[in-house]
Amino acid sequence: MAAAHRGSAGSAEIPRFPAGVPAVGLGTYSYPFVADEVRAAVLAALELGYRHLDTAALYGSERAVGEAVAEAVRRGVVASRAEVFVTTKAWCTHCHPHLVLPSLRESLQNLQMEYVDLYLVHWPMAVKPSKPYFPLRREDIVPMDLSGVWQAMEECHRLGLAKMIGVSNFTTRKLQELLAVAKIPPAVNQVELNPSWQQKKLIEFCRNKSIHVTAYSPLGGQSRTKISSVLQSEVLEEIAKARGKSVAQISLRWIYEQGASMVVKSLKPERMEENMEIFHWELSDEDRLKISQVPQHKLATATGILCPEGVSSVDIAEVDVVEV
Ligand SMILES: NC(=O)c1ccc[n+]([C@@H]2O[C@H](COP(=O)([O-])OP(=O)(O)OC[C@H]3O[C@@H](n4cnc5c(N)ncnc54)[C@H](OP(=O)(O)O)[C@@H]3O)[C@@H](O)[C@H]2O)c1
Repeated sequence: MAAAHRGSAGSAEIPRFPAGVPAVGLGTYSYPFVADEVRAAVLAALELGYRHLDTAALYGSERAVGEAVAEAVRRGVVASRAEVFVTTKAWCTHCHPHLVLPSLRESLQNLQMEYVDLYLVHWPMAVKPSKPYFPLRREDIVPMDLSGVWQAMEECHRLGLAKMIGVSNFTTRKLQELLAVAKIPPAVNQVELNPSWQQKKLIEFCRNKSIHVTAYSPLGGQSRTKISSVLQSEVLEEIAKARGKSVAQISLRWIYEQGASMVVKSLKPERMEENMEIFHWELSDEDRLKISQVPQHKLATATGILCPEGVSSVDIAEVDVVEV
């Protein structure tokens, strides 16, 4: 499935997929965002053996990620920045052909790095140019020049500023549109994926097109209502109890068995450690069957990232991310 890898600190092993993506990474979208907390969490993760960090222009966490990696190098936790797989993303405000490269340069400035390992189009939607902001105003949505944006992504790769380029929140339909114009196909599609949103059609499509899938919100996300369809799933709880694992580990192991890597957010080192311990055991066929019957519920939708008021001149269905 994925080859074993040992960090220079000799800490726990996290396998990498053939694309070079470590199977488990740390998500750094944190709400509310506190830079010191995220910096400390990234450093703790690197000390535990994490070698994959996920950030984005939108999250405000690029600077904290860069500082933590630099500190880890200074302390000898990692031999060099090259040991760490760093992903960042261009937000909808910069999904315009002339703004992709400047956005990456700004991200690199924040990260204090010469390149990222993976640069992603964050969402298949463009809004009027501005500083990254959220939630997006409906009246700011403009038609996206996917071909032009992707050419700019390809230029980022050619310049050596992004070792790999990819997308996020792309449905099979959007991927087909992209594949029809891409000279360099997307290496990765980062999407919501967990037992509560299994994305069977998309996973199959990506497998056939050799696009690696990375799961976000692998534990059901940072719900402001404190109800997680994953962490509070009775089916997962039952399996976890029977196997002597945590519910989080059952979800993450299931994702790994789909052939996907994952970015998990935690600020707590004990949870980070728990979230890495998914490699030397497997689910049974019976577990997999039960999980296949978990009710499906998608967290991230286009309307969820838009202000409720306002009117868009672009059809919202065009920019949605729900696979149909
Ligand atoms: N591309 C996109 O559009 C997109 C969208 C959303 C997210 N992402 C990326 O994906 C990352 C992860 O997704 P997410 O932040 O939505 O949420 P998530 O990783 O599914 O869930 C994280 C929540 O679960 C808690 N948690 C972590 N480990 C746990 C454990 N072992 N047991 C119990 N609770 C645990 C965390 O709280 P504590 O911190 O208190 O442990 C946090 O509140 C983000 O940080 C971001 O980097 C990308």
